[in-house]
Amino acid sequence: MKIVFANERPEGAYALALPVWGDGALADRLSGLDEPNRSLALRAAEAQRFERDAASIAETFVTDGDTVRRLLLVGLGTRRDDETLLDRVGGNLTGRLLKSGETRLVIDIAGLGLEDSKAARLAFAAAARTWRYDLYRTKLSAKAKPTLEEVVIVGAGAGVDAEWEHMAALLAGVSFARELVTEPANIIYPVSFVERCRAAMEGLGVEFEVLDEARMQELGMGALLGVSLGSAQPPRLLAMRWNGAGNAEQKPVVLIGKGVTFDTGGISIKPAAGMEAMKWDMGGAGAVAGAMKTLAERKAKANVVGICGLVENMPDGKAQRPGDVVTSMSGQTIEVINTDAEGRLVLCDALTWAQREYKPEVVVDLATLTGAMLISLGFEYAGLFANDDGLAEQLLAAGKKTGDKLWRFPVGEAYDKLIDSPIADMKNVGPREAGSITAASFIARFVEPGVKWAHLDIAGMVWANKSGPLWDKGATGYGVALLDRFVADNFET
Ligand code: BES
Ligand code: MN
Ligand code: ZN
Repeated sequence: MKIVFANERPEGAYALALPVWGDGALADRLSGLDEPNRSLALRAAEAQRFERDAASIAETFVTDGDTVRRLLLVGLGTRRDDETLLDRVGGNLTGRLLKSGETRLVIDIAGLGLEDSKAARLAFAAAARTWRYDLYRTKLSAKAKPTLEEVVIVGAGAGVDAEWEHMAALLAGVSFARELVTEPANIIYPVSFVERCRAAMEGLGVEFEVLDEARMQELGMGALLGVSLGSAQPPRLLAMRWNGAGNAEQKPVVLIGKGVTFDTGGISIKPAAGMEAMKWDMGGAGAVAGAMKTLAERKAKANVVGICGLVENMPDGKAQRPGDVVTSMSGQTIEVINTDAEGRLVLCDALTWAQREYKPEVVVDLATLTGAMLISLGFEYAGLFANDDGLAEQLLAAGKKTGDKLWRFPVGEAYDKLIDSPIADMKNVGPREAGSITAASFIARFVEPGVKWAHLDIAGMVWANKSGPLWDKGATGYGVALLDRFVADNFET
């Protein structure tokens, strides 16, 4: 989607959107229309019971000289402090118009008193909502094809270009994460995941380090490698480093993503129904890769390392078995009770490597870790687990601001002892109850003393079965905006 900021409404054909505050007068927003059209618009709004509720839309057609123009009246509600209002406004508009036949949408915000950051966010939402991946559709009918190409925002302040630079970088990162998540597992597997990341970040100054199977063996990553045993696809550990702080000594924030490019469950195989969803079991890694792209594109003034643990979990004659004991890079041993609890086995070795390599003070991991997460929080919040209240607060705040919402869960000794094993240091699953918490407890056993750590279980957030304010059905890009905001608010100098 092409985004343009302008001072005046353009010439030519376009659909016109006029936002109006819930406590403002609709008539005041209709400047530029002649009297008959103004009264038509007011009557059309009333007929549609348009009450200027947040992100509600009333639609009509008016004449402008000898052309007919689609007019969209958009409610803003009354809450000026609603952080995600413009997401819904922009997203509803372009979601509605994407295949409408309109090619250009003009949103006139002049006189509404919106800050430049809000205007940029409106543009971001308008663009993000129309993201789609049509690569594999060879038979889309003309009517099913998108028509909308350009959004013009009229009347933003002089600071909007700088704000848009940030949001354009965010859009690029979110789009990249969605692409990785959307691609099927025959296209995106550990090696090709790394290649996609290289291509997406070429020339941006991100340093890549890639560990192959032999290197991981030398390092003793028995937990990660155990998951990979059944797969014909070799595993990778990818580290993307962005040094933007201007001070190479500044310890980096480390982000770690679960990148299981397909999760069959392994020998503890999953039921067939719905298994195709497990192509997005690399959504944590996708969010980390997307965030790195955003941070590099906008030249964030912080040192950040994004690490992706990339494996495929398959059943095979060579696959690991329930009951196998593996030794992690930390030296701790793990009894693999269930080969489908593989994410934590990947994360623990990635986490140990990251701590030894970068000596970070702060580590955040993201993972589609447990189905139990969907049972507890559904599709509204990701679960947050942390060993530090300050870090938890920073992440919760970033979630509120961006709309990538988080809800904190407890961790602690009582849960931790549920994963003690009679044969090894721990087992990879606890009882059925509190499955998301015992999964977090497992990862916590690999956090080194003094490190502030948070784990985000994003199992319910990566993929949407229905459209939302910023996405169509499918990949959401959850986590990219969250991580970007978390870095911007807490680590940039
Ligand atoms: N990738 C799954 C978690 C998942 C399931 C995410 C459904 C989204 C939707 C993970 O690897 C897994 O299989 N977890 C098991 C753990 C269990 C064996 C303790 C689960 O949640 O069933
Ligand atoms: Mn699994
Ligand atoms: Zn998994």
